[in-house]
Amino acid sequence: MTSILSAVAWPYANGPRHIGHVSGFGVPSDVFSRYLRMAGHDVLMVSGTDEHGTPILVQAEQEGVSPQELADRYNRVIVEDLHSLGLSYDLFTRTTTRNHYAVAQELFRTLYRNGYLISRTTMGAISPSAGRTLPDRYIEGTCPICGYDGARGDQCDNCGNQLDAIDLINPHSRINGETPVFAESEQFFLDLPALADQLGAWLQTRTGWRPNVLKFALNLLDDVRPRAMTRDIDWGIPVPLPGWEDNPNKRLYVWFDAVIGYLSASIEWARRSGDPDAWRKWWCDPEAQSYYFMGKDNITFHAQIWPAELLGYNASPGQYGVLNLPTEVVSSEFLTQEGKKFSSSRSVVIFVRDVLERYGPDALRYWVSVAGPETRDADFTWSDFVRRNNDELVGTWGNLVNRTASMIAKNFGAIPAAGELTAADRDLLAGSKEAFGTVGDHLRHQRLRTAIGAAMRNAVDANQYLSQQAPWKEPDPERKATILHVAAQVVADSNRLLAPFLPHSAQRVHEALGGTGTFLPQPEVREADDLDGGAPYPIITGDYTAQPRWASELVVPGTPVRPPNPIFAKLSPDVVEEELARLG
Ligand code: MF3
Ligand code: ZN
Repeated sequence: MTSILSAVAWPYANGPRHIGHVSGFGVPSDVFSRYLRMAGHDVLMVSGTDEHGTPILVQAEQEGVSPQELADRYNRVIVEDLHSLGLSYDLFTRTTTRNHYAVAQELFRTLYRNGYLISRTTMGAISPSAGRTLPDRYIEGTCPICGYDGARGDQCDNCGNQLDAIDLINPHSRINGETPVFAESEQFFLDLPALADQLGAWLQTRTGWRPNVLKFALNLLDDVRPRAMTRDIDWGIPVPLPGWEDNPNKRLYVWFDAVIGYLSASIEWARRSGDPDAWRKWWCDPEAQSYYFMGKDNITFHAQIWPAELLGYNASPGQYGVLNLPTEVVSSEFLTQEGKKFSSSRSVVIFVRDVLERYGPDALRYWVSVAGPETRDADFTWSDFVRRNNDELVGTWGNLVNRTASMIAKNFGAIPAAGELTAADRDLLAGSKEAFGTVGDHLRHQRLRTAIGAAMRNAVDANQYLSQQAPWKEPDPERKATILHVAAQVVADSNRLLAPFLPHSAQRVHEALGGTGTFLPQPEVREADDLDGGAPYPIITGDYTAQPRWASELVVPGTPVRPPNPIFAKLSPDVVEEELARLG
């Protein structure tokens, strides 16, 4: 049994979640965590909404509300989206809590004291009309490197280079088109060059990462420069140094504090649990492991900035002691939708809540697990969604459960005992039992697509077995009982193998075979008080202690079984047309 931190990327609180957000890391991290809990590991799964920085400011301006109001609004919406999908966070919180501010400031202070935050004077942009500083992302102009004329002050999306706003050709404000003026401004930079050797040595020990991710992380080391960790902006965490603390126009860079969320959320979880030191088990024990789930545009921050913050902190640690670096940065690839890039701004995206409302959480979880952007880019299409739902979820798995439960109900009214087993019976049972080893191994290494394939093969094999054994025309009642007993056993096994992927229907399958009580614990939303006197907010949490074991457990003859209701709904082919029409 290992203590394993499941660290899930923090969505910006700037809108409802679309399926791109949950395909890359939401569903994968949940499947991983649910499997580990069933296998007996001690999992802590944390995340929250990312509520600082320009993404929040830009959207707040568009909706005509304050950044705090915007964050409050979308924190609630996102909590709802993720909870409905069944994501089993131990704590899903937010970055505007006082707890998070205190932890982020402790890290900043310690990094500063250790000499890894260095002050530098840069040229910052000011809006002449507002007299306020203009964040880099608000500035647009022509890229000095590739000539692209939609480059932003922080980076060029065309050539991918990091830019300084002052180097843009013909810079103008994205808010009102005016030309910014540039003035000297002091900021703190994370001294990445001073940490580069340690970062490189650490990365060399990271075997087993997805090759694309490791390659990307190593490439970052070819050109390390100090990186600004403060901003001229009035929304964010105050810079905890004398002379800066009270300056309303200087704040920590959003990415500096966001990655610290993994630690602050673990601490918040521990404080809420009644044992304020409980988080140390996942952060201070060198045997503990941590897996960070995200989309590929986040790799830099998790494979370089966050480890650098931790290394700089550990050099002479503050009140938290020496903290663990990531075991693995688990990044997905891109998801497109009907062949096109996601674009929330053009509102042609598929929102999680719409899919859940119309088709339920497990149909979406199934598609993501079997066809998501795990190690290469993937495309979501409604026709593939409907096909996989109908052929695989309903046709293979639902069909196996239904025919098994209805034949048992009709012929025996309860799970029958087995008589003597044939070679075919023994083969099927042996394969089903072994699947826990193979599927478990794939899940331990975040290979969801292979894992769910192997789990579904168990159901395919059982369907084939039923067709061959044809219990419906078996004249010998004892043989009929044996076949249905074997089928019930494989349904029960498959239900465990599929439970991390399909936690909602797992409960219904459990009941179809006469099971009672809660099969799998589920997350819940709770209104929580801020621990340090701030405003209350909703959290996702749960008690996940009572888990079904990750192993074949014998079904009990005599358990009453009634005629089942279908577990999954078949979708009409019209769904494809309807949904495509919605997308326009
Ligand atoms: N909000 C960021 C994004 O959506 C992700 C932040 S992950 C963090 O890209 F944990 F580092 F905050
Ligand atoms: Zn460029």
